[in-house]
Amino acid sequence: MKTILIMNGPNLSMLGKRDPKHYGSGTLADLENACINKGIELGVKVLCFQSESESALIRKLHTSMGVIDGIVLNAGAYTHYSIAIRDAIELIKIPVVEVHLSDIHNREDFRNRSVIEDVCVEQISGLGVNSYLVAMERLCDTYMKDHEEESKDCTDLLGEERIAIDALDKELLMLWQRRMKHVERIAKIKMEMGTETYAPSREQEILEKAANGVEKQYAELAQDFMKEIMRLSKERQTQLRNVTNEE
Ligand code: DQA
Repeated sequence: MKTILIMNGPNLSMLGKRDPKHYGSGTLADLENACINKGIELGVKVLCFQSESESALIRKLHTSMGVIDGIVLNAGAYTHYSIAIRDAIELIKIPVVEVHLSDIHNREDFRNRSVIEDVCVEQISGLGVNSYLVAMERLCDTYMKDHEEESKDCTDLLGEERIAIDALDKELLMLWQRRMKHVERIAKIKMEMGTETYAPSREQEILEKAANGVEKQYAELAQDFMKEIMRLSKERQTQLRNVTNEE
């Protein structure tokens, strides 16, 4: 399976807070999730990386050699002046599609120029999140065709799978933490209302959504997964209740 790396540069971590006229209202997590879903559709593995730092982006480009088959890069403002990023793209010999959420050709003059454009296989600009999704399609349809797996041995492949799992675990934990904060808020609201936290009908609803939200072969496992998440949520809510009762 091929791997596409979605790379975002400076200030793209602040999507959702940046000017919606140019960047829309979604967050970076929304954007990355859309790319991950697109990856499922295209049958490719998707890894995501964001940094504010030029050196981190360059290092990521370097360490992609031999591991990544295609890159979708929004270098943010570095697009317009980073010769160092340009040189890194040139040397890694991985197809890189330059993307921008906004239409850089119809904004301030200083955004018209991209110093990375001619070392990238293509530039896609102004389609919002779709710039990334179209770039992924272009990589799959055209630019990654020649990069077959033949040069990779089992150790490489295993390493890649582990990298993918580590990245996904990171995301899962962040999402789980966000979910937990809502669970805590619900517990507090219910304590104030003096009602029971446990809601069996709600649990049933969540389990149904879990089964319907994944491919058929994962339905039962997805329910087990959600049961475990709900068990942990209940445990946390009980902790909160006990702390409040003790106070
Ligand atoms: C951007 C355009 C750049 O000019 C700007 O500095 C960004 C985002 C875009 O996605 O539209 O940070 O790359």
